[in-house]
Amino acid sequence: MSGATMTFTDLELPDDVRDSIGRALAGMPDPGHDFDGATARCHQIFATLPLGLLRAVLDFGRHIDTPGVALVRNLPVDTETGPTPLDGGPGRGKSGFVSEGVLLGLTGLLGEALGVLTEKGGRLVHDVVPVAGGARTQTNQSSAVFLNFHSDITYDATGRYDVANPDFLVLNCLRGDPSGGAVTYYADARDLCRRLDAGALELLRRPLFRLNAPGSYTRSAAGGAEVLSHPVPVISGTAEHPEIAVSANGVRSLDRDAEAAFEHLQAVAREVAHAVRLEPGQALLINNRKGIHARSPFEARHDGRDRWLQRTYVRRSLWDIRYRVTPEDRRVHF
Ligand SMILES: [Fe+2]
Repeated sequence: MSGATMTFTDLELPDDVRDSIGRALAGMPDPGHDFDGATARCHQIFATLPLGLLRAVLDFGRHIDTPGVALVRNLPVDTETGPTPLDGGPGRGKSGFVSEGVLLGLTGLLGEALGVLTEKGGRLVHDVVPVAGGARTQTNQSSAVFLNFHSDITYDATGRYDVANPDFLVLNCLRGDPSGGAVTYYADARDLCRRLDAGALELLRRPLFRLNAPGSYTRSAAGGAEVLSHPVPVISGTAEHPEIAVSANGVRSLDRDAEAAFEHLQAVAREVAHAVRLEPGQALLINNRKGIHARSPFEARHDGRDRWLQRTYVRRSLWDIRYRVTPEDRRVHF
């Protein structure tokens, strides 16, 4: 798989910068005790990135014409990672909070971390690990299935799931897949629009699709039944700067032609996608509006050695989604 290079960027920290950031993060307390304080400290630490790198990450977050996915390599890691949690996290054996510091440092250059009560209990740092009971689901707990190209969407009572959802995801790798089989894919809407059949693109731009709410929501709120959005287009916005929204947990097309167009989209996504095998010390920045992402099947043994990522959901601003906020925490939403 390959795509136009402008939609992917590869950023590497020099060894001395990795080490100095690692030293600064080494004594950091659990960010959960004072999240905004930890965010401020991590921001200060990541502001010491070399200017070109710092600008590349900032540009990734603020500009419409920058890449949709960025691999950041040679990041500091914890001395001891401990076993991969079996239950969806969090882990209990880490020697410190370096991985959380890296996650929050990168997050803070893009926007603000946000939590959703139905996703990982509203936690701000999500552990993405294979869970035995979810191995075949279209959720982040899966391993045995191809997790189809999707955006991370958020159930919302307005009937639009592509509005209050995260602008970005940050994935920080604590442990790679020991078998090397787990691949993360990202397909940028700009590359998709260049490759899609004109007729299919025209259909994908019409409100002919109902997104199913995330599995984490439908299980907790609807006993697993579908909870569909209003009919929406999958691709919207200008030809030059399109936005794309696809639910992982199923998309219901309103007619057969729309369904065929959606199947064509999934096939083309495999052709244009950038592919990354995440390893410890690497993080992936994903623009959740410019593109859709997927993950290959991989072997999970549920023995504490499986692949382990930490993730944040990121908004440029929390203001527009204040109608969803919980009274207990200004970063956590219903
Ligand atoms: Fe996802």
